[in-house]
Amino acid sequence: MLLIVDFGSQTAHLISRRLKDLGVPTTLVDPDDAYEIAQKEKPAGIIFSGGPASVYEKGAPTITKKIFSLNLPILGICYGWQLMAQLLGGEVKPSNKEYGPTELTIKDFHTLFYGIPTTSKVIESHGDTVMKQPKGFVVLGSTETVKYAAVGNEQTKMYGVQFHPEAHHSEFGTEILKNFATRICNVSLKPQELAVDIMITEIKEKVGRKKVIGAFSGGTDSAVAGALVAKAIGKQFIPVYIDSGLMREETLGRIKTVFPKVLGVPVKVINARKEFLERLKGVIEPEEKRKTIGKLYIELFEREMKKHKDVKYLLQGTTYADFIHSQGSKRSAHIKSHHNVGGLPKEMKLKLLEPLRYFYTDQVREIGTKMKLPKDIVFQQPFPGPGHAVRIIGEITKERLAKQVQADMIVVEELRKANWFDKIFQSWSIMTNINSTAVKGDGRFYGEVVAIRIVNTKDRMSAEWVHLPYEILEKISKRIVNEVPGVSRVVYDITTKPPATMEWE
Ligand code: XMP
Repeated sequence: MLLIVDFGSQTAHLISRRLKDLGVPTTLVDPDDAYEIAQKEKPAGIIFSGGPASVYEKGAPTITKKIFSLNLPILGICYGWQLMAQLLGGEVKPSNKEYGPTELTIKDFHTLFYGIPTTSKVIESHGDTVMKQPKGFVVLGSTETVKYAAVGNEQTKMYGVQFHPEAHHSEFGTEILKNFATRICNVSLKPQELAVDIMITEIKEKVGRKKVIGAFSGGTDSAVAGALVAKAIGKQFIPVYIDSGLMREETLGRIKTVFPKVLGVPVKVINARKEFLERLKGVIEPEEKRKTIGKLYIELFEREMKKHKDVKYLLQGTTYADFIHSQGSKRSAHIKSHHNVGGLPKEMKLKLLEPLRYFYTDQVREIGTKMKLPKDIVFQQPFPGPGHAVRIIGEITKERLAKQVQADMIVVEELRKANWFDKIFQSWSIMTNINSTAVKGDGRFYGEVVAIRIVNTKDRMSAEWVHLPYEILEKISKRIVNEVPGVSRVVYDITTKPPATMEWE
């Protein structure tokens, strides 16, 4: 639990709200009671909120210095930081009043600012400034006018920020609060019972009577995000599924049958199978495949959106991992270009609604479970955005896609039958575009080699091939060569990542 000491600002509640959304329990207390409660409740850390007073004014709210002797991490925000500075021997003076957005430049990315860009927008609202910081503190970030905009003492785990991370328009404010909770106070995030209710209420409040459109991929993240929104705003939500024909067939089945039940709103299915195949004609290079698919996906989505006039928000199932990845990795940026309908024309003026932005996959699954979504949606294998297209080496034709769909489903079925499907991270077949000789019936047969890839991974950065019992591999192989037309041979990929990537393309 984190203790939030309320020095009189409205934002004290916002700090609490942000942390609760992240799954951090909080208790809001009056400064006069803070020390006693901290002694009794043993919080993981303390946050001093902002407040309207000036620390040097008579009667300004203060706190006993004994609070520092508890050796707990403390984050002071605005007035909270100024008070901390004053009590610890620094100096606070009136300064030019500053209200609104300003640019923070970070100098130390260690703890409080981990994973945050060097410059970002923060909201300041103060008339006083710390002129001299207390002993032991170092500057972690500054704005043009405020030298001590962010400071810290790594030894005592005390930090101060002049701006308001809890304010919605502080670009990376939630990340800063999250870093304080997880990296400094060592709180592990667990969405509580309450978090789901709060998320739903927040969506409701934010959206009002407007409409939200959202594209489903059929995967866990978009399903959970969709369920939250559907629960919050019901029929104001327009869920759309673009059927490229490149996903597992069971995904479309779920979209048509399970999702309307789960969401309480029908999903609009756009059948674009023909268009995808046409666009992919002659496309061989993997990245070009990805781009072609991403582009058409956006085009189709735009076409659909134009049909709905009063839509204000675009729902996205972005998770914290997507968000972090897209900052550093070029590859993730590609990955996102498929799902993340980032290339939408400006005149549409859609705002993004990303209810899962601060949650990791396991938390998303926990939310899904709490919402009683079917297990096979919440715990399904991730499937790449471009789907089977990057699992068919060479050109994608209707026939080769049909072969891939069938072979892939055999892998799924056999793993399910043997109770292995849920134990592994991902499994699939690959059309290798290599022919080999076989004997079928009495004649020579020259057909395609199908590879099987089954991997486990913790973080997707590295992966190991699964040591599957031979009997299961045997069944998979037998079924594929017998049932899928044009296949001569089945091989098992026994390469780790690195050096090989998980996908062949
Ligand atoms: P690699 O092949 O990079 O795959 O080792 C790591 C993980 O990312 C998935 N992957 C993708 N997901 N769009 C996606 O949405 C893509 O273009 C893409 N490429 C790879 C892959 O399935 C594995 O889980």
